[in-house]
Amino acid sequence: MFYECTMAELRVLFTRDQIARRVVELGAQIEKDFAGQSVIFVGVLKGATIFLADLARSVRVDATFDFIGVASYGAHKMTSGEVRLTKDVEQPLTGRNVILVEDILDTGLTLQYLKKVFLAHQPACLKVVALLDKACRRIEPVKADYVGFTIPDEFVIGYGMDYAERYRNLPDICVLPPEDL
Ligand code: PRP
Repeated sequence: MFYECTMAELRVLFTRDQIARRVVELGAQIEKDFAGQSVIFVGVLKGATIFLADLARSVRVDATFDFIGVASYGAHKMTSGEVRLTKDVEQPLTGRNVILVEDILDTGLTLQYLKKVFLAHQPACLKVVALLDKACRRIEPVKADYVGFTIPDEFVIGYGMDYAERYRNLPDICVLPPEDL
């Protein structure tokens, strides 16, 4: 399947049905691991919003949401290496079961930074769920506890992920051809 866009034809990497099935599987794992407990899902703005919305609805445990914002200096399609906080969480995390929700794990610089921020709050437990893992690009030795799909080094958009803030609303995850970057 292809999308007709102003820039290019976008190749679908994961259809909305494939994503939905995998999200339900991830939700079942989290539900099993946290049965009878409360969790707080913390989504990393903005890419993780759609994933968080779907994932949280597939986990039948007592849950709350929060969001954190980060930016990489000068970054658009490449990570620059310097991460800063643009929005902090609004709820206390101390003693809570925190599930950090990421759309994609790439170099690991963002997650490395966020883990430090979160652990400073002294949560009861900190788990990371990433829908996509571009493991081949890792610079920092960080891992997610739950991974949807491991993907090759291609520029992905859709299902919350953007190129220059566009395409987040595509229901499928697509690849933007290198000539359009
Ligand atoms: C993406 C993603 C992660 C980060 C991962 O965010 O949501 O936060 O990049 O990259 P890293 O492992 O190389 O640090 P992005 O900067 O694209 O912002 P967005 O979520 O607002 O689109």
